[in-house]
Amino acid sequence: MSSEPAAEPVLTDHSYDGIQEYDNPLPGWWKFLFWCSIFFAPLYLMYYHTGVQGRSIEDKYGQEMADIFELRYQEIGVLEPDRETLLEYMDKEGWLAVGETVYNSNCISCHGADGGGLVGPNLTDDHWKNVRKVEDIATVIQDGAANGAMPAWKTRMSHPNQIVLVAAYVATLRGTTPAKPKEKEGNPIPPWSNE
Ligand code: HEC
Repeated sequence: MSSEPAAEPVLTDHSYDGIQEYDNPLPGWWKFLFWCSIFFAPLYLMYYHTGVQGRSIEDKYGQEMADIFELRYQEIGVLEPDRETLLEYMDKEGWLAVGETVYNSNCISCHGADGGGLVGPNLTDDHWKNVRKVEDIATVIQDGAANGAMPAWKTRMSHPNQIVLVAAYVATLRGTTPAKPKEKEGNPIPPWSNE
């Protein structure tokens, strides 16, 4: 459609079984998109895949699940921070997502994104400082420990269920494998299911 007269087609200098090719360069728009996608890929990688909490599709999904579940608090009433409730909620995926977002927004700075421990202890191993039974997790979260080195969360949560759900989530971290586990602290304790 161009007003220019068509340039004389240029043949490449090879011939395979008598088949010859025109030397047609790829169109400019194609090369432009090609370079754009090469340039875009590392930016995308850096934004979504360097482990920043809350950016991956999976994290976003978890947050939305948690928001939806929080709206359903009236179904479950106010949870008791007791053994039975914790063991029960350790198996409830949707409600654990609420616990996980509470964890992600309040606990990562001291316990690590995967519970491996930073300033605070490793929450994935069998050694615990203030915990012997699963319900002790909720107590430590409510009241804090070591004179506030572990803060008390009782008055900082928007709903008491958040404490119970984050405690159930923490209980599920035990036995998982963090990227950089902090060395053991405290004493070995029996599995949560042991009375
Ligand atoms: C400012 C840092 C900090 C934050 C934030 C923090 N913790 Fe801790 N946490 C600690 C420290 C330090 C300890 C160890 C206390 C001790 O030495 O007895 C601890 C202990 C614990 C324990 C008991 C571990 C054990 O071995 O007995 C649990 C459970 C726990 N934290 C859960 C949480 C949860 C859940 C959150 C978020 C709601 C949280 N922590 C936020 C610092 C923190």
